[in-house]
Amino acid sequence: MRTINIGIIGFGTVGSGTAQVLHDQAELITKRTGAKIVLKSILVRTKRVLPDEFSDVPVMVDEDAFFGDPELDIIVELIGGIEPAKSYILRAINGKKHVVTANKALISACGVEIFAAAAENNVEVGFEGSVAGGIPIIKTFKEGLAANRIESILGILNGTANYILSEMTNKGLPFAEVLKTAQDLGYAEADPTYDVEGIDTAHKLAILMTMAYGMEVDVSAITTEGITKIEPIDITLGKEFGYRIKLLAVSRNHGEHIEARVQPTLLPDDHLLAAVNGPFNAVHIKGDMVGDVLLYGPGAGKMATGSAVAADIIDISRNILHGAENRVSCLSYLPEFIQPRRITPIAELECPFYFRFTTLDKPSVLAKISGILGRHNISIESVIQQGQLDDGTVPIVMRTHSSCEADVEKALEEIEALAIVTAPVVKIRIFV
Ligand code: HSE
Repeated sequence: MRTINIGIIGFGTVGSGTAQVLHDQAELITKRTGAKIVLKSILVRTKRVLPDEFSDVPVMVDEDAFFGDPELDIIVELIGGIEPAKSYILRAINGKKHVVTANKALISACGVEIFAAAAENNVEVGFEGSVAGGIPIIKTFKEGLAANRIESILGILNGTANYILSEMTNKGLPFAEVLKTAQDLGYAEADPTYDVEGIDTAHKLAILMTMAYGMEVDVSAITTEGITKIEPIDITLGKEFGYRIKLLAVSRNHGEHIEARVQPTLLPDDHLLAAVNGPFNAVHIKGDMVGDVLLYGPGAGKMATGSAVAADIIDISRNILHGAENRVSCLSYLPEFIQPRRITPIAELECPFYFRFTTLDKPSVLAKISGILGRHNISIESVIQQGQLDDGTVPIVMRTHSSCEADVEKALEEIEALAIVTAPVVKIRIFV
């Protein structure tokens, strides 16, 4: 029986999870592939003792010895970040090794260069673990939906942000308090910026857009807003209107241009994604042939992400065994058909909005605000005015009909300049 030798770089959460999956499922994987997949070496920054089941696997700190091993078939990068991960991956590719990674920041920022190098060297790059942890979303685009023009992608792609919003919703607690508890419990990183500011979600959306539409994506063109400004009052009032707030990745294929945004969004209570709570992820895809498809599962975690990384190792091993490397193009489209496409500038997009104004409790406040909205073509659908707060201000909450982002921007600038408006306006998009 053919042996496929694997070298793993990094033995943190995902690295050790991947090793564990390969170890625990060895017999099953052999029955499914016809090969013996062997963890041959591990490259780490500092030498350490591994759990008993890996005691015979050499742990190296010498990069030259690790990359110079001619018997390695697949190198698995699991350290994350841009450098040295990028140099390691390019070194592996240039040494004609297949690569598997779970590094979304790297794939979304440097994918073009990495996939060009892979094509030149006729090796594969698997990255299933980079988006939505254990959910097989990359394979779904590459294979399951290969006959579909993708019309839209909606995703809850960050478990940390979804956990925080779920806790705020269920317990009525403020963002900072929930974040602190999540950090104490180890659910959120000490520096949670990427997760709570939507950056991690934007990286993942960029990868999915490439797979879905065959386009190069500049992540900075994706309008990205985090959840740090969401307050319990917005969650409560959102509920009164029949919505739940989610950090949603949205991309729609408008033909000539592609919509792409990551924003806190009010989702109708009866939308399937509104029921995705806690640290879970979900992706809703619309294909022109299949219609609606929903994938749900663990978006992170040692064994779940290990399962995704192992799936890539298995795919590549099967291809090696059958001399069928690159049978399925890594990015779903053949490299020569990956094109730049126009991402719709946010100012051109339209949707209904939720606004929360904090105002003085004086006559004609509502008239002044609605007058400005009207002059900018923004039509109000409903209004809730709450009682006075301790500081004497009143929250006025409005839901609008579909309105243009550019008009909203101008109207809110005028409204915020009014003396009767005492705090920045809270603006949340409503999903339609
Ligand atoms: N930090 C990510 C999340 C997990 O919270 O979903 C890995 O992508």
